[in-house]
Amino acid sequence: MAIRTIVTMPGDGIGKTVLPEAIRVLDAVGFAADYVRADIGWEFWCKEGNALPDRTIKLLEQHKVGLFGAITSKPKDKAQAELDPALRDKGFQYFSPIVTMRQLFDLDICIRPCKSFAGNPLNFIRRKGDGFEEPKVDTVIFRQNTECLYCGVEWTNPPADVRQALETHRKMKAFAAVPSEDLAISLRIFTRVACQRIARAGFEHARQYGYKSVTVCEKPNVIRETSGMMEAEAKQVAKEYPGIALWSTNIDAQMMWLTKNPEDYGVIVSGNMFGDIVSDGFAGLVGGLGFACSANLGREVAVFEPTHGSAPKYEKLSPSIVNPIATILAAGMMLDHIGENAMSKRISAAVAKVVEKGKVRTYDMLRLTGGPDVFKSGAATTQQMTDAIIAEL
Ligand code: NAI
Ligand code: MG
Repeated sequence: MAIRTIVTMPGDGIGKTVLPEAIRVLDAVGFAADYVRADIGWEFWCKEGNALPDRTIKLLEQHKVGLFGAITSKPKDKAQAELDPALRDKGFQYFSPIVTMRQLFDLDICIRPCKSFAGNPLNFIRRKGDGFEEPKVDTVIFRQNTECLYCGVEWTNPPADVRQALETHRKMKAFAAVPSEDLAISLRIFTRVACQRIARAGFEHARQYGYKSVTVCEKPNVIRETSGMMEAEAKQVAKEYPGIALWSTNIDAQMMWLTKNPEDYGVIVSGNMFGDIVSDGFAGLVGGLGFACSANLGREVAVFEPTHGSAPKYEKLSPSIVNPIATILAAGMMLDHIGENAMSKRISAAVAKVVEKGKVRTYDMLRLTGGPDVFKSGAATTQQMTDAIIAEL
C-alpha cells in the first residue's frame, strides 16, 4: 500500500489533545501514513500576526489532505493585546484560520454525519405511552461551506454608493428614513454552481450509502432568491437520481421536526447558515460535541475536523477529560475520502462497540460538569477512551 502524507494541524487547546488520539487509532487500524505537522492557531497569530501561516497553506497545497484539531479565536481587543508588541499597529488583523482555509481552498462542501450509536446515554429519547423509545438517528448534513451570510460582505454604515445601489430595490423603501450609521447589512449570497455542487454531493452520498431521501432545508417561501435557487437546483439534480426522494423543508419547521421524528431524515442539503444550525441540532440528538465530526471538501483539498472548538478551560487538565470520539470519527471520514473504506468501517465499528458496552465513558457521556473531579464519578480519561477503541479494532 502506498504511504499517504497527511497534514496534521492540532491548533490550540484540546485540539492538541485529541488529534494525537486520532492518529493513534489510525496507526492501530494499519493506515500507512506520514504525518506532517503544520502550524495553525492563536500562537501563530501572537508570534507572527497570522494564524494560518503561508507554510501551512503550502503543505496543504502539496499534500491535499489535512486533519485539523481546533483553534482559539478571541475578540478584536484581545487579539491586538496579545499580538507581539513588535507587530502591533502594523495593520495585522486577526482572521479565523479555519474560515480562511475554507475560503482559500474553496472547501465548499461540508459534511456532518449525525448517527446515533446504540447505548450512548446522550441519545435522543422520545416519550411513548408510559415509557420511552429511542429512535435511531442517521442523518448526514451537507452544508454549503463558503457562501451565504458567512461570505463576509457586510457593512455597518454602508458607503453611499452601496446604499444607492440597494435603494434601486423597492423593498428598501421601508428603510428610507434610517440614517446609514444606524444600518447594518450582511449580504446573503448564493451562486448557482455552489448550489449545484452541494446538492449533487448530497445525492451522490445518498446513492452511495443507500439513503432514501434528500431534504433541501432552506426557506424558499420567504427568502425567495437564495433559498429559491438552492431548491430549484436541487430539483434539477434530483432528476438524475430517480430512486431517491427529494423533500423540501423550511429551516424553522425542520428544527421542530428533528425534535419529533429525526429518524425520518436521511441526507439534508442546506446553505451555510441553515446548514450550521440544522447540523448542530442533529448533533445534539446523537451525543453533541464529543461525537460531532465533519469534512470540508474542495475540488482538490480536503480537511477533516471535529466540530468542537479548543475548550481552553480543559486544555491544562492532566489527565485530559475530553472525548476524543469526534476527532477519531473525523479521521474515519478522512479514510473514506481517500478510499480506505474498510479501515473507516472498522473504526466506526470499534467506536460503536465501546459505546454499546458502556464501560468506558468520558465525562460528557456521563453528563458530568467538566473538571478534574470527573474521574471520581467514573469518567474515563481521553487516553482511556482511545485505548478502549483501539482494543476493539
Ligand atoms: P468549544 O467547542 O471549545 O466548547 C464548548 C463546550 O463543549 C465546552 O463546555 C466544552 O467543555 C465542551 N466540549 C468541547 N469539546 C469537547 C469534547 N471533545 N469532549 C467533551 N466536551 C467537549 O466551544 P467554545 O467554548 O464556545 O469556544 C472555545 C474556543 O474555541 C473559542 O476560542 C472559539 O472561538 C473556538 N472554536 C473553534 C472552533 C474550531 O476550531 N472549528 C469551533 C468552535 C469554537
Ligand atoms: Mg456551529
